[in-house]
Amino acid sequence: MPEFAKRMETMKKSADVIRTLFGSMNDPDLISFGGGAPAKEALPIDTVREIINDIMRKETRGVEALQYGGVKGLEDLRKVIVDELLGPKGVKANVENIIIINGGLEAMNLLCQIFIEPGDVILVESPTFVQSVEIFDMFQAKCVSVDMDDDGMNTEELEMKIKKYNPKMVYVIPTFQNPTGRTLSLERRKKIALMGSEYDVIILEDDPYRDIRYSGEEILPIKAFDESGHVVLANSFSKIFSPGSRLGYILANDEIIEKLFDAKTATNSHTSMLPQIVCAEFFKRGYYPEHHKMICDLYRERRDVMMTCIDEFLPEGTKKVFPDGGLFTWVELPDYINTTDLLSESISNSEVKVAFVAGEGFFAEGNGKGSNCMRISFGSVTPEKIKIGMAKLGKLIESKIK
Ligand SMILES: Cc1ncc(COP(=O)(O)O)c(C=O)c1O
Repeated sequence: MPEFAKRMETMKKSADVIRTLFGSMNDPDLISFGGGAPAKEALPIDTVREIINDIMRKETRGVEALQYGGVKGLEDLRKVIVDELLGPKGVKANVENIIIINGGLEAMNLLCQIFIEPGDVILVESPTFVQSVEIFDMFQAKCVSVDMDDDGMNTEELEMKIKKYNPKMVYVIPTFQNPTGRTLSLERRKKIALMGSEYDVIILEDDPYRDIRYSGEEILPIKAFDESGHVVLANSFSKIFSPGSRLGYILANDEIIEKLFDAKTATNSHTSMLPQIVCAEFFKRGYYPEHHKMICDLYRERRDVMMTCIDEFLPEGTKKVFPDGGLFTWVELPDYINTTDLLSESISNSEVKVAFVAGEGFFAEGNGKGSNCMRISFGSVTPEKIKIGMAKLGKLIESKIK
């Protein structure tokens, strides 16, 4: 066997975390607060069937759906993004500055292709989304962590680290962050946008949870404060439409988007046509507002049940994030509880069988930070199962109390 490429060594750690996460999802007896998938009730199956029946004819969009398409993505889907998703959120965009990609995750890949040389520094939140770090590792970037608090990434530390490391990119998940559920404050969004131009660094704003806000006030994206084009906005249809359709998009200035078109062409020519058409029609036929309300109502109820259960079943001294949207909360247990050990016991103990994601793996710095933390995803678990699962988890944790 020839030698594997060096980059596979650096990818291993984050790949292992992801495998553990997905590995536990297929056990039917397990109550899983692990994955970040949307609820199955939030997938618009009937509407999609109706749309597909209609479009898959020669006289409608059947040929277009099965034929090659353009690298930028479907024009009507890009228009939906500009008019229905970005415009109302305070981002003025031109259809020509949007590219449709294969799931939001492809944004990280394409951005690295066009900007990252081995050894370049990317500043990331501490903790951050593991799959993005896996991509950054694949490009042999050096991820340096910036601390967070309840208002998101600490901008004083960010500025200090920009000066110290001269990074190529800052990666930030500003709204209902994965893994913490925290939201970056308005003040900090403005500051980060400014730092982009002041220090000539790309701000990669990855915002797939923004559109599922079910309480609190809207906050404008970082991109809304970008005057120099240093902010690149990535988003996804996974949480508001369907993750299996693998649809996402990037908004970037002229210079960057041209390079992204080149990288996308070289990677996979374009995103699959059928999901793009179905998604565009879903919005154009006016299904989104009602669907959006339905998913927000669903997740709000689950969030509320989860918050009550954390207070009721987890030990005194536990800290939690109250998210105004998205699918996650972040729980900090008393220091002496190691959540990696707790997770293996919780999954394997037949009296418990509850999964979550242990905190440690989300810290790019990897020095044991977050070992008493866990990400709890409440989005895809029914309120009844949330209560059962949290009661069992609480009991297991109680047995560890010193
Ligand atoms: C922060 C963040 N970015 C990007 C993605 C990627 O989403 P997609 O399924 O569209 O690739 C996710 C998915 O969980 C995410 O949590």
